[in-house]
Amino acid sequence: MTKHLTVVDHPLVQHKLSLMREVETPTAVFRQLLREISMLLAYEVTRELPMTTHEIQTPLEKMDAPTLDGRKLALISILRAGNGLLDGVLELIPLARVGFVGLYRDEETLQPVQYYFKVPGQLDERLVIAVDPMLATGNSSVAAIDLLKGAGAKNIRFLCLLAAPEGVARMKEAHPDVPIVTASLDSHLNDQGYIVPGLGDAGDRMFGTK
Ligand code: URA
Repeated sequence: MTKHLTVVDHPLVQHKLSLMREVETPTAVFRQLLREISMLLAYEVTRELPMTTHEIQTPLEKMDAPTLDGRKLALISILRAGNGLLDGVLELIPLARVGFVGLYRDEETLQPVQYYFKVPGQLDERLVIAVDPMLATGNSSVAAIDLLKGAGAKNIRFLCLLAAPEGVARMKEAHPDVPIVTASLDSHLNDQGYIVPGLGDAGDRMFGTK
């Protein structure tokens, strides 16, 4: 992947995203839409996935058939909202290894604080896809990528649902080698660090907390 930012403007993605943004959309519907949209985004972020071949028998003859080398892929959920994106991607690529980075945002400083880190081994040999629905200030995304690189990851992509220009710029400055795939580049961040127009707090909306 060569582009730093890819906005997936497929009509199905855009339609589902609009439904998710609506303040009246209930939690269960929000979660279902997120699962569906994450599968569509996974299609884009997994272009150029490592492939292997398996010998299979068709009704006519044997062939070396191309198959995904799923063991070479690591999906990393940035907790807790990342889990919503993770589910859909994992449904498409069940062989992928999965890791978790726990970061919460200090609401005063907006800085990320780490509370959990558990990732698959041999990260240096894997394509690592970090998932977090909201790329807002970029602080927690940059911190998560820092941790993944510290654990050996060399080939990383970042998958999110919404991105703010501020977060994209921060990621580009800190990690220009990490391509970002998103469903929308929104207008800006507000004073509380929320993406505008956005969809509110992604974690609260998917888990029904407030
Ligand atoms: N995190 C969210 O959940 N929403 C935002 O708008 C920004 C960060």
